[in-house]
Amino acid sequence: MVGVDQVLSKLANVIDPDLKKDIVSMGMIKNLELNDGNLKFTLELTTPACPFNDQIEQDVRRAVDELDGIKNFEMAVTAKVMEGRALDADEVMATVKNIIGVASGKGGVGKSTVSLNLALALAQTGAKVGLLDADIYGPSIPLMLGMQKAFMEVDNNKLQPVDSNGIKVVSFGFFAEQAHQAAIYRGPIISGILKQFLVDTNWSNLDYLIVDLPPGTGDIPLTLAQTIPITGILVVTTPQDVASNVAVKAIGMFNKLNVPLIGVIENMSYFVCPNCNEKHYIFGQGGAKKISDSFQIPFVGEIPLNSGIMEGSDRGKPVMITNPTSPSAEAIRIAAKNVAAQCSILAAKLKSEVEGKVAAS
Ligand SMILES: Nc1ncnc2c1ncn2[C@@H]1O[C@H](COP(=O)(O)OP(=O)(O)OP(=O)(O)O)[C@@H](O)[C@H]1O
Ligand SMILES: [Mg+2]
Repeated sequence: MVGVDQVLSKLANVIDPDLKKDIVSMGMIKNLELNDGNLKFTLELTTPACPFNDQIEQDVRRAVDELDGIKNFEMAVTAKVMEGRALDADEVMATVKNIIGVASGKGGVGKSTVSLNLALALAQTGAKVGLLDADIYGPSIPLMLGMQKAFMEVDNNKLQPVDSNGIKVVSFGFFAEQAHQAAIYRGPIISGILKQFLVDTNWSNLDYLIVDLPPGTGDIPLTLAQTIPITGILVVTTPQDVASNVAVKAIGMFNKLNVPLIGVIENMSYFVCPNCNEKHYIFGQGGAKKISDSFQIPFVGEIPLNSGIMEGSDRGKPVMITNPTSPSAEAIRIAAKNVAAQCSILAAKLKSEVEGKVAAS
């Protein structure tokens, strides 16, 4: 008669392609019951946005098929996002498992567009997601969500994020009165506002908090990197960036600060011809890939140049909501899954470092 040990050693042959570890040692098999050849367990993925969820599930079914003596098999598939940040050092934001800063070397490359649509794509997989518009000088998220009139309440000295399309949003733009004065604020005040948005907000339980940063390497990206432990930075580039080397400067700053780089994403990469449906790389191909190769940062995706994306943002109707089956939305979805996978990889690394320290002490 087949026993639990045999089942587990068979399942240990299934490797998570992202984490490169077997699913048993990663603790992904939960609530296993085996009674008289009737096998039941839960497969707990590290993120609901796992790009390999179908493959892992199929590999598990195949492994179970290869076992002798299983009469019945039931599997539930769930996901529990791993903590991609060192939470001990940061009890104030202990309910937020991952913080992802979205940065770029220069302005106008699409950070806000990418941040918002990534947040929506992750939320659509079932993850709990927040979006912090950290562009205090020029907040654009309220307009992109069509929520210019919304405002944040304060409850028990904590800011209450605004709910929109299943995500929790904080932006300086929700303080309509103050927002137009932001241009006159200097570094320390701006840093103080960002700190408050991070730690004095009632984020509740979040799997991913996306932080839309202003361009470059100024006070705000620096404050994010130095105030709290974050999972890492996602760098947005456009094909033109490679020649001007601005992305490289931003990457250099985060490297110096020892902040992990989650990935590089190329926006306005190509144009899909409405007549022939072909991708045209009008500004040249492979720029972000080159950055990814030379700095060993994962390449997480490329988003097309598409008037629907721009019009959606201008009208407060993001493409992930209004046109979720479009090729642009599909490209964003793929990037979101890759970002989530990279967060799981960083979380697994963090976990093994912590376990290593405990074992050594
Ligand atoms: N993939 C895309 N296709 C077409 N238009 C886009 C795309 N991505 C962004 N845009 C448009 O480009 C402009 C700049 O985008 P966005 O505001 O997201 O950039 P940003 O990097 O956040 O800018 P800033 O540095 O000023 O914060 C906006 O008008 C936006 O609608
Ligand atoms: Mg922006």
